[in-house]
Amino acid sequence: MRSFFNVFSNDLAIDLGTANTLVYAKGRGIVVSEPSIVAINKITNKVEAVGKEAKEMLGRTPGNIVAIRPMKDGVIADFEVTEKMLQHFIRKAHNGKSWVSPRVVIGVPGEITQVERRAVIDAANRARASEVYLVEEAMAAAIGAGLPITEPYGNMIVDVGGGTTDIAVFYDNIIRHTAVIPFGGNILTTDIQHGLMVMARQAEQLKTRFGKAIAEEASPNEIVSIPGIRNRTAKEISVKNLSSIIQARMEEIIEMAHTEIINSGYENRLAGGIVITGGGSQLSCLKQLVEYMTGMDTRIGYPNEHLGKSKLEAVKSPMYATAVGLVLSGFRSLDEREERYKDKSNQKQPVRVKKDKTASDFFSSILSKTKGLLIDDLDGKNEY
Ligand SMILES: Nc1ncnc2c1ncn2[C@@H]1O[C@H](COP(=O)(O)OP(=O)(O)OP(=O)(O)O)[C@@H](O)[C@H]1O
Ligand SMILES: [Mg+2]
Repeated sequence: MRSFFNVFSNDLAIDLGTANTLVYAKGRGIVVSEPSIVAINKITNKVEAVGKEAKEMLGRTPGNIVAIRPMKDGVIADFEVTEKMLQHFIRKAHNGKSWVSPRVVIGVPGEITQVERRAVIDAANRARASEVYLVEEAMAAAIGAGLPITEPYGNMIVDVGGGTTDIAVFYDNIIRHTAVIPFGGNILTTDIQHGLMVMARQAEQLKTRFGKAIAEEASPNEIVSIPGIRNRTAKEISVKNLSSIIQARMEEIIEMAHTEIINSGYENRLAGGIVITGGGSQLSCLKQLVEYMTGMDTRIGYPNEHLGKSKLEAVKSPMYATAVGLVLSGFRSLDEREERYKDKSNQKQPVRVKKDKTASDFFSSILSKTKGLLIDDLDGKNEY
């Protein structure tokens, strides 16, 4: 049998995310890390751009070009567009060589149906993959972040993605409980956008550069200046106010995750604690907030310890845990994997936590909690 990722390998591991798609090639590390966006010409139905380029076209495109995010809430919402995106990224990973037909391993949400699995495999085949293997994302994230899942004690992964937060409880090498919480990092950006009356791009920057999951950790004197764009006036935003908006939403997400830990029945057996991965895990002070709210040991799942030293820099981020885990778990098919974890007697059905609050309802509740703090940032007249 051909070993996984041999020297001349063209094989790829693909983490298809709602927010970002990552492609890892052995020996080269992360070769694609781009937003999961496709720009399509409505008249000709042709793909105009994919990834970063498509994102740049957002908002400044003529009316006949629409930007589509084919993945939604952690699942594939539009198979046709996903296929085009896969095709583009696979070709890009091989520097445009269209004759290469690689073996690919793709991370998929644990709860997708047999039909959806088939559709992902077909899409990858049509995108010139020679062999396609699917691995559950939660398993990949756990392997990438180095969770000791084979130990006879409990471990838990909380993957804070863009659209969703996926949790999985492992015990004795078996996934015992999984749940999808319908909020991830993107909703924080929306909250900030509305709460501080800034544009989406500014909100994203405020979150990633200055935001904290614990407002008290921000100094009251720390102020960020936002330049005026178009007809908006420049404004000053306090990092403390910014962080209270973030904290309110993060508390809600963690509370939902905690409920799932309790529902799993493994709450008192999680000696391995909680490992947080995904882009959202990079939020400052998140580990502390999770520890505080759950009372469990928590760490951020950096994947670097599990790879050759030379690749350290390329994959250092916990955002790459899933992609790295896909590589490490290799090309065993999902079926074989299920064979191996066949003692499923104690495994519960995956849970999809319901979206019971809309962003705007929730926002009015944080607004009332943080009104006093926010007031200095609101200058009502010229925004919205
Ligand atoms: N430094 C940072 N601080 C806080 N949030 C961040 C940071 N960097 C990225 N994010 C957030 O991480 C999220 C994207 O994470 P990731 O790439 O893991 O998602 P995904 O895998 O594409 O989504 P999903 O798992 O829901 O399909 C975005 O909401 C982004 O704003
Ligand atoms: Mg993800």
